[in-house]
Amino acid sequence: MGASKATFLLAVIAAAVLNAAVLCSGGITSSFVRKVEKTVDMPLYSDIFKVPPGYNAPQQVHITQGDHEGKAVIVSWVTVDEPGSNTVLYWAENSNQKNKAKGSITKYKFYNYTSGYIHHCTIRRLEYNTKYYYEVGIGHTTRKFWFTTPPEVGPDAPYTFGLIGDLGQSYDSNKTLTHYEQNPAKGQTVLFVGDLSYADNYPNHDNVRWDTWGRFVERSVAYQPWIWTAGNHELDFAPELGETKPFKPYSHRYHVPFKASNSTAPFWYSIKRASAYIIVLSSYSAYGKYTPQYEWLKEELPKVNRSETPWLIVLVHSPWYNSYNYHFMEGETMRVIYEPWFVQYKVDVVFAGHVHAYERSERVSNIAYNVVNGICTPVKNPLAPVYITIGDGGNLEGLATNMTEPQPKYSAFREASFGHATFSIKNRTHAYYSWHRNQDGYAVEADSMWFFNRYWHPVDDSTTAQS
Ligand SMILES: [Fe+2]
Repeated sequence: MGASKATFLLAVIAAAVLNAAVLCSGGITSSFVRKVEKTVDMPLYSDIFKVPPGYNAPQQVHITQGDHEGKAVIVSWVTVDEPGSNTVLYWAENSNQKNKAKGSITKYKFYNYTSGYIHHCTIRRLEYNTKYYYEVGIGHTTRKFWFTTPPEVGPDAPYTFGLIGDLGQSYDSNKTLTHYEQNPAKGQTVLFVGDLSYADNYPNHDNVRWDTWGRFVERSVAYQPWIWTAGNHELDFAPELGETKPFKPYSHRYHVPFKASNSTAPFWYSIKRASAYIIVLSSYSAYGKYTPQYEWLKEELPKVNRSETPWLIVLVHSPWYNSYNYHFMEGETMRVIYEPWFVQYKVDVVFAGHVHAYERSERVSNIAYNVVNGICTPVKNPLAPVYITIGDGGNLEGLATNMTEPQPKYSAFREASFGHATFSIKNRTHAYYSWHRNQDGYAVEADSMWFFNRYWHPVDDSTTAQS
């Protein structure tokens, strides 16, 4: 073989190897390596969990959206000494007029635990874009908080959402929440993708850990709404303890405005907020054909008016596109049933949790398969959503570090670190998304992407296209 022939052959082999590497590998597996530490829950005596002082002081105060449009807020809190008043006093920042709303009180037993008095009160007919103060605990120890209502629902209303999932109550959870609070992007509402307290990891699902979690996150959720998604740690299904009603602690403690979107259960519902339409689904409620969730979603998707709310966002706990060797393919049955609708209705982004790590997908779909045609591989699809796994809140179960290799093509970026993200809508065409790992300073972005709206500006926005 002549020298030139050998060189040519080498070049061909090199090209083939390079080509194979490009074709087989997906996006980026981050080279960031986290120091190996055990993820430990904060002890019960931790300052983070301290009970507010005073007789019957309201604790675990939290708010969420209370209607479909963002003009109502559900205020919830717990009292322990006696039921106390279920009234909320509230007033606009620039007004002396104090208003009253009356709520309801509930409590529950779980095995050998009895909850405090859980209050839920919906404040309605609020003005958009207004700061309100509110006071709870009327008659005994009162506590005052505030929130700002969103701008009027409309196509170009800018708005910034925070994204947190699988939070738990470890030292890492506390870091995640602090990073979210300190993020200069200033999230205005948290989209929480499920798995709140992890109380079920304790003997007898020790519901005291539901209370500590409520006190831990109060510093954020008393001042801005968190939009709730139910995860598997909300199930608390424990027949061995005689507890057979799924979601019992969660559904007593966290109310959502499901009736406002014609849902028949609090585990799937929708809200409009500013320029976003948010659909919350339940991975742990029946979702097959003819089930209430299926029928609701089938009716719901055609109702979304992208001229009013251009950004269509879905929250669900179990991810559909995941390349970690944890919960791999657990979301597959739901994906098979609902994914064609997500493509048809041009969902912009789907946020999930469950896997304790971070991952962002390409715009892909896998909807061509029909049992006999063998077409069952995810393919790039400009009409498909981006799928983001953000189950990296920092709970005691620790990080998911083991990944499917090689990185599948549907995976654009993945990293096993704890953190949070923000999704900042600028107008009807553009939104800026960024993910922040806890090891960095508050402003550092470890992954980011400009989203181009799928209805108004459906051009290629993959990070490979942008770079
Ligand atoms: Fe989970």
